[in-house]
Amino acid sequence: MAALDLNERMAVAKAVGRRQQEFAAGRMAARLAMHRLGRQQESVPVNPDRSPNWPAGLVGSISHSGSTCVAVVALGRSWHSVGVDVEPDLGLSPDLWDTILTPEEHRRVSQMPETLRERWATRVFCAKETYYKWVYPRLGLVLDFQAVVVDMDSTLGSTRFGLRPLHSSAKKATPPGVQGTLTVAQGQLIGLLIH
Ligand SMILES: CC(C)(COP(=O)(O)OP(=O)(O)OC[C@H]1O[C@@H](n2cnc3c(N)ncnc32)[C@H](O)[C@@H]1OP(=O)(O)O)[C@@H](O)C(=O)NCCC(=O)NCCS
Repeated sequence: MAALDLNERMAVAKAVGRRQQEFAAGRMAARLAMHRLGRQQESVPVNPDRSPNWPAGLVGSISHSGSTCVAVVALGRSWHSVGVDVEPDLGLSPDLWDTILTPEEHRRVSQMPETLRERWATRVFCAKETYYKWVYPRLGLVLDFQAVVVDMDSTLGSTRFGLRPLHSSAKKATPPGVQGTLTVAQGQLIGLLIH
């Protein structure tokens, strides 16, 4: 597997060791995915806005959480964009609900059994981060968590989520009916949107 190139190493040269490790793991996972696609393993430099700069003809996304790292890479001729997000499958503190949840999502979570609420809120958070990574390359705009409503069953077993952008530019960039998936593996929640 090709090691990090100079540009990639420079991007995290001043970061703490743990950050350097997660960055390198993301680049290695991306190279492995390129290999599996039958592509040359190329470097993935960092754009000035911190997003990854994928090689020509590829779209992709990277996420890390604790000891887990995921990269998804796809052919740009088949897919507009990819978003992936990994979060520990734990509860989201109610202190954060006003920031992360829209009023509609807040109402929904309040009607659920108390034992489900915090972990369901984490699923909404993961879906939004996934959507943000998917939409950002098409939009070039930072969206806050009030910019989109996540539609998802009121259970912890939901494997699909829909998205209703409230932000006008995000609406234009998001085809109606676009859906993402949620998977739980080894205590980690993995959100994926590829379209
Ligand atoms: C960028 C962001 C989504 C990263 O999420 P995170 O949970 O902190 O960290 P993750 O490990 O999941 O993802 C980090 C990776 O995302 C990628 N990334 C960073 N900025 C990105 C962007 N603007 N668009 C797409 N991918 C981006 C990078 O590959 C980064 O890893 P790397 O620096 O090692 O290359 C998050 O920090 C952020 O800024 N969120 C605010 C906006 C948001 O989520 N809004 C939701 C409403 S739609």
